[in-house]
Amino acid sequence: MAEETVLTDVAGRIATITINRPDKRNALNSATRNGLIAALARIQADTAVRAVIVTGAGDKAFIAGADIGEFEGRTPVDQYRAMQGPSVYGAFDAFPKPVIAAINGFCLGGGCELAMACDIRIAADSAKLGQPEINLGIIPGGGGTQRLPRLVGMGAAFKLLYSGELIAAAEALRIGLVDEVVPAAQLMERAK
Ligand code: COA
Repeated sequence: MAEETVLTDVAGRIATITINRPDKRNALNSATRNGLIAALARIQADTAVRAVIVTGAGDKAFIAGADIGEFEGRTPVDQYRAMQGPSVYGAFDAFPKPVIAAINGFCLGGGCELAMACDIRIAADSAKLGQPEINLGIIPGGGGTQRLPRLVGMGAAFKLLYSGELIAAAEALRIGLVDEVVPAAQLMERAK
């Protein structure tokens, strides 16, 4: 039942993937990560689909990060082992069709990393972005230390990574973390 938390809708040539854990601010647990990888595999095989939009269910969050509950009780070695399977970030990065992140709210930690693995990021004006892992004593493990500086430059990346600060969509646009900001009500239409 890995895919209940991941909804896929195909309309015309566009597949929309929705992370569907709004009560948990669409945090990525392992079932959701696996569901996303499976959804991408199906969409890749569907030759009618030419582009993909990924977004979060509800109006609060795109993805609020990795599911913190899954970290509980894990040793660093457990965590290392847990990360040995296929990477959802790698799956988005390597996906052969254009992928647009429609960022509809909190886009934090692994959520920001997933958005950065997409080709284009469009944010609602209400969105907030950041890499708050430092507040948990960890670093971004989903490629954030690499993709963030490529997008925003070293200084702005270090500021976000070292401070854990959340920034508004307008500031994310200014530093190059997102490519466009639109009123929340227009987000999906613009992404399409
Ligand atoms: N992992 C697991 N659960 C999460 C989560 C995460 N990353 N982010 C939010 N949730 C859950 C909360 O535990 C809460 O669950 P509950 O209702 O069962 O108690 C629910 O989502 C709502 O969260 P809440 O904090 O009440 O919502 P909010 O709108 O006031 O704040 C955030 C939203 C995203 C700012 C806040 O939840 C937050 O800071 N989350 C952690 C972000 C983070 O550190 N991400 C990086 C992880 S490596």
